[in-house]
Amino acid sequence: MRIMRILNYLVVFIFTSAYISAAEPDDSLKSAFAKRFDIGVAIPGTNLKDSEKALLLKHFSTITSENSMKPQSLHPDEGRYEFGSSDALVEMARSNGITVNGHTLIWHSQCPNWFFTDNGKPAERELVLKRMREHIAGVAGHYAGKVASWDVVNEAIDDGREYLRKSKWLTSIGEDFIAEAFIAARLADPKADLIYNDYGIELGGKREKALRVIRDLKKRNAPITGVGIQGHWALDRVPFKAIEDAIIAFHAEGLKVSITELDIDVVPRSSFGADISTREKGSDDPYANGLPADIQKRLADQYAQLFALFLKHSDKMSRVTFWGLHDGRSWLNGFPRRRTNHPMLFDRSLQPKPALDAVLGAAKQHE
Ligand code: XIL
Repeated sequence: MRIMRILNYLVVFIFTSAYISAAEPDDSLKSAFAKRFDIGVAIPGTNLKDSEKALLLKHFSTITSENSMKPQSLHPDEGRYEFGSSDALVEMARSNGITVNGHTLIWHSQCPNWFFTDNGKPAERELVLKRMREHIAGVAGHYAGKVASWDVVNEAIDDGREYLRKSKWLTSIGEDFIAEAFIAARLADPKADLIYNDYGIELGGKREKALRVIRDLKKRNAPITGVGIQGHWALDRVPFKAIEDAIIAFHAEGLKVSITELDIDVVPRSSFGADISTREKGSDDPYANGLPADIQKRLADQYAQLFALFLKHSDKMSRVTFWGLHDGRSWLNGFPRRRTNHPMLFDRSLQPKPALDAVLGAAKQHE
């Protein structure tokens, strides 16, 4: 009798769980793409609402810190490191079984001026180089074994006619600052993926310069392992063909490609790119009360088209990271001017938008 009752329970249990899983298919981004590449998200810190944390853990397998690992946050004065908030983020990731991408070791923005001055005067090459190496050893050493990758150098390429951006890193050290940064990162962390990260490098002119950076690094025996295409794109202007060509070209150099900062800006703007010093005037806010359905649909279609492309080339890719958890958390609400933006897959109430279904649909079609 007892055996019968147990069997009975077992049968009921099996049926109920089959029913539940049929009624609630696993519709998370991370499982939809698990066999192809990681799905990541940038978060501002660990002080997320419970609902945001649940969204994060459901959909994403890897995180990037939006600001707390930049030199300005981690290393405000020479020799003084502030690891508190990024340590908390790394610990949150570890205890939830997700990975961390370090962003970023060397960048011209959000970098304190002490790196470049010596008693009020511009510091000599050797001093800036020594400080750069110490910074990388201090930070990448602190997180060795705890981060999956580092954006070693961010946005070193010039947007105009020059090869490299005229940053203080370039003017103080010279062109080899990029190679020196990669060499120092490998010394500090023997295993992490080491990435060159930039915006607009999918497009003609900057793509050629990115290829030049990659080849120059190889010539100098600098250990680059990946390229990050930031992926700050704009509705109706996503350069699909250029993105595809760039993924193929970077992969042909023996590197894995990631999309590291994906979003699609839906509010019309007059400037492009993602240089955080760009500011636009004006205060019009056309979608303050929500996104019209036709634009919502275009956003969904363009996200689906992007993911179809990533799936087609998934053998060349390691990760796609969204730059923000939901519309209310996107930096595009403040850049290049204040406005109400709707660039992500989840709205301000954390509800899935048609774009989420479209992206999941793309995954199903490519199963
Ligand atoms: C942005 C952050 O999202 C903002 O919170 C901050 O005020 C400025 O920086 N390219 C990058 C990122 O590599 O670090 C930038 O992040 C967005 C553009």
